[in-house]
Amino acid sequence: MKRPRRVQSSLLISSLLAMSLGLVGCGGIQSVDGPTIYASQCARCHGGDGQGSTGPALGSNSRMAELSDDEIESVIVNGRRAMPRYGGLSEVQLENLVAYLRTLP
Ligand code: HEC
Repeated sequence: MKRPRRVQSSLLISSLLAMSLGLVGCGGIQSVDGPTIYASQCARCHGGDGQGSTGPALGSNSRMAELSDDEIESVIVNGRRAMPRYGGLSEVQLENLVAYLRTLP
């Protein structure tokens, strides 16, 4: 009586494992953590602390600080001139990213 259950849960675990391996392989942005997404995608142009580099500064004294959350999300999703578009980010990823941008010095 107990056996089928165990088989079922190990099947579930292995398909979850396969799914997560597949996702890692496909190159999309997996993390939902704002700082992690920023460090992997944005820091190379905006600086590790948002101090700016090839892209403009994004800290609390920057032009970005005057934009609304929606305006910031729109730049991220649609891109603007040399700013690449990140159309594949989910709503949660965007919210966490913008929340993190608001914490930059
Ligand atoms: C290839 C370099 C590059 C990367 C990578 C990049 N940006 Fe940008 N970003 C820019 C440039 C350049 C601009 C200025 C666009 C313009 O001239 O209008 C910009 C503009 C912005 C703005 C608007 C700032 C303002 O003052 O209006 C925000 C917000 C922003 N980027 C956030 C991000 C986030 C978040 C990421 C990561 C998901 C990111 N950027 C990745 C280059 C980059």
